[in-house]
Amino acid sequence: MPPTAAPYHAMIEPRTDRGMWSFHNPVQVTFGDGALGRISGIVDGRRYVLVTYDEPHFREMATRIVAQAGEPLVVIDDVSPNPDFAGLAKSVARFGALSETAEAIVALGGGSVIDTAKVISASAGDFERVHRYLIDHEGEEALGSVPIIAIPTTAGTGSEVTSWASVWDTDAGRKYSLSRPDLYPEHALVDPELTVGIPRMLTVATALDALSHSLESIWNVNANPVSTNFAVAAASEILEVLPALTKDLGSLALRSRMAMAALLAGLAFSNTRTALAHSLSYPITLQYDLPHGLACSFTLPMLMLAVIGDDIECDAGLRSIFGEDLPAGVARLADFLTDLGVSVSSEDHGVPREVFRNLIAAAFVGERGQNFIGSIDRVMAAEERQWEARPGNSAGRTDRNHTTSQ
Ligand SMILES: [Fe+2]
Repeated sequence: MPPTAAPYHAMIEPRTDRGMWSFHNPVQVTFGDGALGRISGIVDGRRYVLVTYDEPHFREMATRIVAQAGEPLVVIDDVSPNPDFAGLAKSVARFGALSETAEAIVALGGGSVIDTAKVISASAGDFERVHRYLIDHEGEEALGSVPIIAIPTTAGTGSEVTSWASVWDTDAGRKYSLSRPDLYPEHALVDPELTVGIPRMLTVATALDALSHSLESIWNVNANPVSTNFAVAAASEILEVLPALTKDLGSLALRSRMAMAALLAGLAFSNTRTALAHSLSYPITLQYDLPHGLACSFTLPMLMLAVIGDDIECDAGLRSIFGEDLPAGVARLADFLTDLGVSVSSEDHGVPREVFRNLIAAAFVGERGQNFIGSIDRVMAAEERQWEARPGNSAGRTDRNHTTSQ
């Protein structure tokens, strides 16, 4: 049984070493089973565009929305995972071709759908405006803003409460972040019932994305007491709920707890952004085709080992999740992932070790990598230790003990 997390406020003193802090999130959240039934009042007669996936499960949910909120101006349903320049240009073109002005965008789907809705919102009907802003950091005044109503159908993305969207340039092997204050959705409608049909693999990947969001907001230079409280609650819940949920995928009660945890993780990193695990994940997703939730989570034990002892408040947050013995917490986190079928070894995900170490170095330079509070030397040392401890390495047979007693 996992140790019971102590209340975060009981663990630490108010932040004094980094001075003043602030927390802001303007998204109106409606949460609960059957929340989709509120869509009519939220759309409130506005002319809207519906963004979703072209799959039977989503068409059925879209039908429910249309029955309550009326016909949309258009259904943009050609969203692909990790939406890239080419696909987004097509989606935006359909938006730009409308003869009537959209007053809202309803995004029904996972992170890719909500991020696509954000790009459409900012595009003013012309993807070139977003492209120019991302590449040249110019033309901000030409960007648009259409209110977004986000209805997440997975528990993990957090995009329903953040002000940015991931945009991928697949051909160039690059990932951009479209980040603007007016990209916070107007409303996040979180209905756990919508997640009940999700298969095991997607359930695990999205939950691990949320776990990564929560831990990444703790070992983050932008952390503050509010974000860390959200993160502690989210991570503690995910560690407890996810193993049970994988054995009972139809449980609405467990789905509801996971949806809440993912929402809290989203609120946490909405104010800190992510850090090194995400920075490191992007080239791994692009070059090795590893889904985002796995790419940004298999490194978490290594990074936790690398930050222990670096920051009093980070340590306090991690203790609230893992208990007093943080090195034992690293082992517990690794076991948690391994038991879910997610190896903590890069090689098991197809990334050769030397490539992986080069990617770590590069990740520190990335925008998100600079949010990480730890040092490259300690991350490299943690990688070394993890490598020596990998199963089958006789030199590392005792490393589990070594790790837990560090
Ligand atoms: Fe993520």
